[in-house]
Parts: sequence; structure tokens; C-alpha cells
Amino acid sequence: MSEIKNTVTDHIVIGKEVFVPLIAEDVLQLRIKKLGKQISEDYVGKVPIFIGILNGAFLFLADLIKNITIDCEIDFFKLSSYGDDKISSGNVTLLKELNCDVNGRDIIIVEDIVDSGLSMKFIKELIAPHKPASMKVVSLLVKPDSLRYKVKIDYIGFDIPSEFVIGYGLDYAQKYRNLRLIYVLSE
Ligand code: IMP
Ligand code: MG
Repeated sequence: MSEIKNTVTDHIVIGKEVFVPLIAEDVLQLRIKKLGKQISEDYVGKVPIFIGILNGAFLFLADLIKNITIDCEIDFFKLSSYGDDKISSGNVTLLKELNCDVNGRDIIIVEDIVDSGLSMKFIKELIAPHKPASMKVVSLLVKPDSLRYKVKIDYIGFDIPSEFVIGYGLDYAQKYRNLRLIYVLSE
């Protein structure tokens, strides 16, 4: 796991809330490069399928696979759980199924963030009955203090505090996914 550094001083005001930089773009990209290298080494001789969880993981998946040096495939699940709020509804719904056959394949689930772990548990339980050869998880961010469900995250970009974050794919009421770095809600 890498250290989180604040190298940008801009802040973002959304209504009465202020977001400040948590992970700078260069720190983010360097970590993703290392994750890509590690996964490429771990999967030599295999052709894994990276399964991105929409919408949040789309930027991370794109940057991650640019750093994968072995053959690979991609597919997507689309889940909904947060609505427009900062707090999860606790319900996970599947909005888009996979288009690939995961049977006998090496699966790497790609998430932007694991908070309570409910979404990840839901996804793993959806995939497992189709009998993949292996199933691992890579999440750019994990909030260890928020984990409520026992899910193994095999590759972690950064452990972060249990605060609401936006940017780099992560939204607040569907906006701010286009920000190039991760911002956190300041107290
Ligand atoms: P979990 O099911 O509680 O682990 O929540 C995981 C999902 O909630 C992630 O895939 C995100 O889409 C969303 N999420 C969790 N924390 C945040 C956050 O701080 N900002 C934006 N989205 C979040
Ligand atoms: Mg997500």
C-alpha cells in the first residue's frame, strides 16, 4: 500500500460542503502502474477477464489495463446502490449482466472503492456459481474501518479513512466522476 500525499491545494465547494484533495494524480497513476505490473506478473501464462463494476470503476479499469502486459479481456457489471446520497441504501441491484462466459476463466473483479463490502459480496456470489477457474478482486480504494462483510480484497490501491470521496470515477449524485484526482469531504 502506498502513502497518500496531498500535492494539490485546490478545493471544491459543493453547496455547503468542501472537498479537499486526498490522492494526487501522479500518486494515483504511480500506484496503478505498480498494481498493473504486479497483476501482470501474477497472471503470466493466463488470459484473465477483468470485470469492471460500473459506473465508478470505468476510469480505474481503463488506466489499470493500460499497465497490463499480458493478454486479457474485459467485461462489465453494472450495479446500483447509492442513489444520489452519500450513504449507501444497503440494497444492491444488478442493472447490467455480463456478456462473457466466466466458466473455467481467471476473473479479476475491478472496483473503484470497497466501503461496507456489500457490493463486492453480492458480485462474488453472482460469479461463483458459474465456476470460474479463479476469482480475485482489485479495488483502487478500501475503507477498512467501514467493512461490514467479510470479503477478501486481493489487490488494494490505497486504504483510506471512512470519509466520502469523489473524483476519478467516483460520484456524488452522478457528478464529479471526471475529476483527475480523489477529493475527500473535509470536516
Ligand atoms: P459498499 O457496497 O458499501 O462496499 O459500497 C461500494 C460502492 O459504493 C462502490 O462501488 C461505490 O460506487 C460506492 N461508494 C462507496 N463509498 C463511496 C464514496 O466515498 N464516494 C462515492 N461512492 C462511494
Ligand atoms: Mg462502484
